[in-house]
Amino acid sequence: MSPRPAIVRTVADLRQQVAAWRAAGKRVAMVPTMGALHAGHLSLVRLGLETCDHVVASIFVNPAQFAPHEDFDAYPRGEGRDAELLGAAGCGLIFAPGVEVMYPPGFATAVTVAGVSGPLEGEKRPQFFGGVATVVSKLLIQCGPDVALFGEKDYQQLLVIKRMARDLDLPVEIIGGPTVREADGLAMSSRNAYLSAEERTVAAVVPAVMAEAVERLRAGAAVAEVEAAAVARLEAAGFGPVDYVQAHDGEAMERLGPGPVGTGARVFVAAWLGKTRLIDNWAV
Ligand code: PAF
Repeated sequence: MSPRPAIVRTVADLRQQVAAWRAAGKRVAMVPTMGALHAGHLSLVRLGLETCDHVVASIFVNPAQFAPHEDFDAYPRGEGRDAELLGAAGCGLIFAPGVEVMYPPGFATAVTVAGVSGPLEGEKRPQFFGGVATVVSKLLIQCGPDVALFGEKDYQQLLVIKRMARDLDLPVEIIGGPTVREADGLAMSSRNAYLSAEERTVAAVVPAVMAEAVERLRAGAAVAEVEAAAVARLEAAGFGPVDYVQAHDGEAMERLGPGPVGTGARVFVAAWLGKTRLIDNWAV
């Protein structure tokens, strides 16, 4: 069995270990997480180890990215299980700060990213990207990794973080890892744990709808028609509300349509199934 990685909770302890690795000429990757880990997170650890000698994973359920009515309190937590999984994947250190480390009394700074954060999640969850950009910029400054890895499942988040790192001249390479899926195509997510057994079966409609939408767009169908058909299919399967099914450019996040798309398009979906909000995105 792989050793459980050490868990540090202060910035000083984190920096001491990273500095020791650097002094030995090693490269360091960081995988920021909110815990409740699944195979998608672990694939990012393994991806980090392809170009770096050590991986630091952070576990912090970031209150700043949740609105008051959202699931901050219910968000699944389980540090012991997460540590076992991270150790088995080859992670060498866990940074699990308390809220007082990340947001000490008097904390008054916010990082906001315009442009790519505007549509989709930016419209439906107005607090989300500000909270993500603030916490991720802090984590990257605290750790100082060579590379940081984020899943493409949260594709718009990945673009926001890339923009933020570029704009702030953070000396880190931001790498996206492919979405990891269950056998029926459902994108892995910590929030899938909220689904009842019946809902879990219905959830597989999301990848089926996305596959069909992508196929039709590739064949030259009009965006507006494909989006409307996808929403109708989700609603017929029991989803509601469907926050969006939209095609956007995969770099600038500009809305595409209403006619056929060119290269570089992606289709994004967010839809509620009972109390669970599922998101996914597929390249066209
Ligand atoms: O994707 C997540 O788990 C979170 O948004 C992140 C990037 C760890 C920031 O809290």
